[in-house]
Amino acid sequence: MHMIQRKKIIIGNWKMNPETAEEAEKLFSTVAKNVSRTKKTDIVICPPFIYLQALLKIRTSKIKLGVQDAFPGSVGAYTGEVSTDMLYNMGARYVILGHSERRALGESNSDINKKIKFSLVAGLVPIVCVGESARDLSHSYFNLVKSQLEECLKGIPKNSISKIIIAYEPIWAISTTLDRKDATPEDAKEMTIFIRKILSDKFGSEVSRMRVIYGGSVNEKDAALFLEHGGVDGLLPGRASLDATKFAKIIDICEALSK
Ligand code: PGA
Repeated sequence: MHMIQRKKIIIGNWKMNPETAEEAEKLFSTVAKNVSRTKKTDIVICPPFIYLQALLKIRTSKIKLGVQDAFPGSVGAYTGEVSTDMLYNMGARYVILGHSERRALGESNSDINKKIKFSLVAGLVPIVCVGESARDLSHSYFNLVKSQLEECLKGIPKNSISKIIIAYEPIWAISTTLDRKDATPEDAKEMTIFIRKILSDKFGSEVSRMRVIYGGSVNEKDAALFLEHGGVDGLLPGRASLDATKFAKIIDICEALSK
């Protein structure tokens, strides 16, 4: 049986940054310039919604745009929301769903499940975040991630599963977590193996095409370690994606390690 090659992907989560459209355009253009020779790595940047249109005008064939949330639907009476269909029509191609910072604002696994389904129908690639807030000696964090996966992916047809990207983001390793700790490539590896096992049991062999990535304070210094020893198909940096040089360096590292 031949091994399935999964193309690596680096996704920048800008969160609620930067403060002005000018800064957003400058950051994006600089990254675009620095990665113009990339061939083997998929690159995605997820800015705040309001910068999407301006960034789509900056010419680059290397970077796809994504968003950090989406309302499941098309149009309707939902004040303040932006729908999956609108975002696809505007030009977004990826959507981060279930980020821990959104879960902290009250988003549940069943909300995320609905958003995944509508994103797939709209044509957006869902990047579904899972991860525990702390590790305990009894390893109950495995059960937590298992139920996040089961509830978020409930009712997803087997033939759609390979379109979804799972991002393992242990909250205790995210840069803005107080008293954060560094996660190791081994931490990422044991969890990605576990995630693949849970999903294979449920969705079968299609899971071998799915990408499982890691996020949590990834930077240009440890990207190689996670890519080489973390068993992952890519990275989801937050803070480091706000620095064009660092972000491009992470992409270069990924490119150099890709076959
Ligand atoms: P960080 O963010 O790289 O700043 O830790 C990652 C994330 O929360 O997506």
